[in-house]
Amino acid sequence: MKIALGSDHAGFPLKEKIKQFLLKKGHEVVDFGTLSESPTDYPIYAKKVALAVSKGEVDKGILVCGTGIGMSIVANKFKGIRAALCLNEYMARMSRKHNNSNILCLGDRVVGEELAFSIVQAWLEASFEGGRHRKRLEIIEEIEKNRRTHGTP
Ligand code: RB5
Repeated sequence: MKIALGSDHAGFPLKEKIKQFLLKKGHEVVDFGTLSESPTDYPIYAKKVALAVSKGEVDKGILVCGTGIGMSIVANKFKGIRAALCLNEYMARMSRKHNNSNILCLGDRVVGEELAFSIVQAWLEASFEGGRHRKRLEIIEEIEKNRRTHGTP
């Protein structure tokens, strides 16, 4: 699988570990940065990864910041993105099965390395169940289409 990675400074250490984990598993990784622990701004990297996923340049994306919250807020602004902030394997699995998540968000300050690897593994192994869940994603797409530039939809 071709997987885009992105993090800010707070997520950099875990992003690097996840990169090695994915490479060992035989995945192709596209690293959109950041490349150090120097303070930077998470929306920059969430945007890069979300666009790569949205345009179909990669199969999936993984974003890491301190909590995962900022990354998920930004990624979900982009067309076709279903970014899921997951704290455990169950959430990761369900975000694939029911929500067809295409970006996984993690918090470096929230989950340890081993738990993060288990979450990533569970997320990559699970598949969208379709069926009744497809209709719900279609409703999300409708909401997305009707989104206005200003004001509420
Ligand atoms: C950086 O200190 C922190 O705010 C950021 O990594 C992230 O947790 C934001 O949601």
